[in-house]
Amino acid sequence: MNQRESELRDEISRLKKQKNALIMAHYYQRDEIQEIADFIGDSLALAQQAAKTDADIIVMCGVHFMGETAKILCPDKKVLVPDLKAGCSLADSCDPHEFADFVKDHPGYTVISYVNTSAAVKAHTDIVVTSGNARKIVDSLPADEKIIFGPDRNLGGYINAVTGRRMLLWNGACHVHDRFSIEKIEEMKRQHPGAKILVHPECRRPLQLIADKVGSTAALLDYARHDDAKEYIVVTESGILFEMRRKCPDKTFLAAPADDAECQCNNCEYMKLNTLEKVAAALRNEQPEITVDPEIAVKAIKPIKRMLELSK
Ligand code: 13P
Ligand code: SF4
Repeated sequence: MNQRESELRDEISRLKKQKNALIMAHYYQRDEIQEIADFIGDSLALAQQAAKTDADIIVMCGVHFMGETAKILCPDKKVLVPDLKAGCSLADSCDPHEFADFVKDHPGYTVISYVNTSAAVKAHTDIVVTSGNARKIVDSLPADEKIIFGPDRNLGGYINAVTGRRMLLWNGACHVHDRFSIEKIEEMKRQHPGAKILVHPECRRPLQLIADKVGSTAALLDYARHDDAKEYIVVTESGILFEMRRKCPDKTFLAAPADDAECQCNNCEYMKLNTLEKVAAALRNEQPEITVDPEIAVKAIKPIKRMLELSK
């Protein structure tokens, strides 16, 4: 650790005590941010934790929709996202006006939206889900319920496949998860025949089908912790490797390469926008702050609360 990093860590630790702030980080954040976070989790755990914290300030080291979800749940708290440009290609694949029209065109449907959506999309939603609870929540609805699921076509397709439902899917995707190549992962498996394949449900169906485990980041981590294999091919954003290696130091985790001739990366560039410098600056200046239009927030909180109730 260089001197600058050590100074930043000291400053963050001092400011967070002084201001009663809680630093939350998604598993895809840079390693050094996961190291200084008070709480690390998947999208579901971050929402659950935000709902119950008594901190005055939440520093959400994740992307914009995670900050919005925290702000909607805690309107009286200051919610900071260190870099407001930390967006999400999946959330961007669902325009709120187009989604509202789609919902209007399908009266009688229950609308389920993935948490990776803007507050404005959530305002047109009956129940929010994350990859960690989508199956449980869909299973809790009557078998003949007509359902719209948005925006992730891969997660929606996975839930349709495992539950036997025929939910109507919005045609959105995450540019990281949708880009993994089955050929490259099969090649990796040939080189590491003993390795188990862990796949996030935002990946395409053929990858889900060759997986030993399909699940949210927290579910994949949990599987690796309790499983007896020694090696894993991890088909999701590579930030999760940090926590996997920390929790299972005796195991080997291999990042799956993406299918991109230019860049063999599997990083979410939005997630990586947050840095220690920006976390320290956010705490110092109490900026940049997440705001949500109160009219939208009042509608969006209902499906988020419904999710928290149903995932108890
Ligand atoms: P989870 O945290 O629900 O696994 O979602 C992954 C993701 O892509 C978050 O942006
Ligand atoms: Fe959005 Fe994909 Fe990045 Fe997650 S990994 S924040 S779904 S773009």
